[in-house]
Amino acid sequence: MAVIIRPEQLGDVRVIHDLTIAAFEPMSFSDGSEAPIITALRNDGDLTVSLVAVSGGDIVGHVAFSPVTIGAESHGWYGLGPVSVWPDKQRQGIGSALINEGLAILRANGAKGCVLIGDPAYYGRFGFRSDGNLSYQDLPAQYVQSLPFQSEPANGQLKFSPAFNR
Ligand SMILES: CC(C)(COP(=O)(O)OP(=O)(O)OC[C@H]1O[C@@H](n2cnc3c(N)ncnc32)[C@H](O)[C@@H]1OP(=O)(O)O)[C@@H](O)C(=O)NCCC(=O)NCCS
Repeated sequence: MAVIIRPEQLGDVRVIHDLTIAAFEPMSFSDGSEAPIITALRNDGDLTVSLVAVSGGDIVGHVAFSPVTIGAESHGWYGLGPVSVWPDKQRQGIGSALINEGLAILRANGAKGCVLIGDPAYYGRFGFRSDGNLSYQDLPAQYVQSLPFQSEPANGQLKFSPAFNR
């Protein structure tokens, strides 16, 4: 299946919303907030990178990256997520293609690195690690992962954009 990764366009907004709802609906950890978070990030101007995967003319996946604060550092770090692939299109490499392209764009734009809350079994393949120096509320350290692009590691309390807290 040929998949093209490209930035979101105006006409993609509805599909991104529906796709995000469908992808997270079966997940036990989901509270259904992911699609509204993407909308709020977009409205706030915090949707730094928003990519869709297109196959056969249809959007099959989406990933968002937004600015985060780490300790007193409020510049240069970005959070990965939400990331979604339609349930019947998962496990075909689409999520990986979206994530790799997003990380490449952040690197090319001089970002310091990327962080996320997620399953280490999945995100380890992209180079994300939990070294215990980055923390998020009272979450176990293994779920709080970072991928520095430069020499400086992620160190301190992680805070996401306001859209994540509404
Ligand atoms: C997570 C997600 C975007 C991955 O997209 P994808 O296109 O299926 O991913 P890929 O095909 O690139 O990679 C598939 C691999 O990821 C693994 N994987 C997928 N979701 C995973 C998860 N939540 N935890 C651990 N591993 C996961 C699969 O087991 C598979 O591993 P394998 O290659 O060793 O068999 C997709 O599964 C999805 O939309 N999930 C529901 C929403 C979600 O959970 N988003 C992430 C929240 S942190």
